[in-house]
Amino acid sequence: MTNINFKRRQFLQYAALGTLSTVIPGFAIAENRIINKTPNSAFNADIEIALTAQTADVPILPGAHTHVFKYTGKLLKGPQTALKELPGYLGPILNFEQGQKVRIFFHNQLTEPCVTHWHGMHVPQMMDGHPMYAIHQGEQYVYEFEVKNPAGTNWYHSHTHELTATQVYQGLAGLITITDEAERKLDLPGGEYDIPLVIQDRSFTHGNQLRYLMNMHQRMRGFLGDTLLVNGQSDHTIPVKTRAYRLRILNGSNSRIYKLAWSDGTPVTAIGTDGALLAKPETLPYVMLGPAERVELWADFSGRKPGSELTLQSLPYQGSAAHMGGGMGRGMHGGRGGMGMMDGAASQSDKDTIVRFSVTEQVSDSPKLPDTLVPIHRLTVKDVSDPNSVVPITIGMRHMAFNLNGRTFEMQNYMEREKIPVNTVQRIKIFHDNRAMGGGMRGGRGGGMGMMMTLPHPIHIHGQQFQILSRKQNNPGGAYDTVKDGFINSGWKDTVLVMPGEEVEIIKPFKDYTGLFLYHCHNLEHEDMGMMRNFFVS
Ligand code: C2O
Ligand code: CU
Repeated sequence: MTNINFKRRQFLQYAALGTLSTVIPGFAIAENRIINKTPNSAFNADIEIALTAQTADVPILPGAHTHVFKYTGKLLKGPQTALKELPGYLGPILNFEQGQKVRIFFHNQLTEPCVTHWHGMHVPQMMDGHPMYAIHQGEQYVYEFEVKNPAGTNWYHSHTHELTATQVYQGLAGLITITDEAERKLDLPGGEYDIPLVIQDRSFTHGNQLRYLMNMHQRMRGFLGDTLLVNGQSDHTIPVKTRAYRLRILNGSNSRIYKLAWSDGTPVTAIGTDGALLAKPETLPYVMLGPAERVELWADFSGRKPGSELTLQSLPYQGSAAHMGGGMGRGMHGGRGGMGMMDGAASQSDKDTIVRFSVTEQVSDSPKLPDTLVPIHRLTVKDVSDPNSVVPITIGMRHMAFNLNGRTFEMQNYMEREKIPVNTVQRIKIFHDNRAMGGGMRGGRGGGMGMMMTLPHPIHIHGQQFQILSRKQNNPGGAYDTVKDGFINSGWKDTVLVMPGEEVEIIKPFKDYTGLFLYHCHNLEHEDMGMMRNFFVS
């Protein structure tokens, strides 16, 4: 991949991660914090896991090992299959079953605070990894939850106040798979034919150590690395047989967005989105996958020749600001360095190899792609509890920081409009706050600002999965045409990529649990910058 950072290195300062903690503002945990230190004896766990956040040195590139953060796990109770260690820096894969009760003893052995969020899981506030529950080095937090989610692919990662980006970047992430009755009936490819693919981008120093950019513009855009890793390995090749596979793909990158496609032009067949399997398979030319989004693919290598190779790629796209209003457009093309860098955020001009599948063995039998997968009740406006209310999530920017609903993150605060009655179904509209941008543009100094306003934002809402009701593009054509066929809108989602000019309406249930539940941009640099808020469910 061409390295945009390299090209513009004269504008940027690199900071080795070792010195990072002295650069970012320190974080003090509130004095009166509540920690769930001990197990609840009334909670009868089927699975118990000890999970520790610690440092480790792992092989990633040829040569020196890389110093990373890593979740290490130990199964204390439950089926052996519940925990699968991976080589590299990723945490173990946690394999749960719907209905199981899970207890996780989380230990922090890092010299900075840490908290773990179970991304995609429907769990109580105290178990959700809100940053207010961060623990210090040497402390323990006991997470206990029942697996209510249906079969699908979720994940866990650190969610520490202002440290999520750097902690996840250094390795604090892992996959969660969930199985259920309905999925087992489908007899999808399992075992060695069920392959997890966690896609992340990283940059390295000459000494193979992780490198993270601290330049202001880089932070506005989000981190983009020059090396793609799959399951923590670079240059990844997976040997496959001539049959069908299930690929569970997670974009675990801080901010990079992938346009996933097969190298030979074969359409992509999706069988699942963030939170669950689809009602029926969907075929697309490519899939857009923003940070934190998951997609499950059906990859059938039947009929391919042993010795041949098929590559999962990320294709170039724009999805950027080229279609902004006239004045803006000219401003952009006037191109100062800073603006160029902003532009890199929304577009990706290179074709990148993500992972190679090399066909090594001929087999005669392959499972067939089912016509239908699992029943999904399509939510419509009729399901919304109060048909007259729409909960807004505006994407805005002020003082060189992105915000949501006009405000940056406040640990335990929420606004009137962020109050959600429990056990309701809400219609939520996510859109760019053009008023703010319009002002900036008319004010004339807005070139750079306007550009930044046009970034795509992967918006994630904690708690139950939602459905996409509609997508409306206010600036159709142009750049949007390079991404528009890659969205899957029929399934359960917890993160939705909102492109520049786009307005997305979703329907989301807020059942069972009261308390503070986060909604935020999953561009982790944006999140740490304060592009995060609480919903107060009561
Ligand atoms: Cu994956 Cu609030 O996060
Ligand atoms: Cu964002």
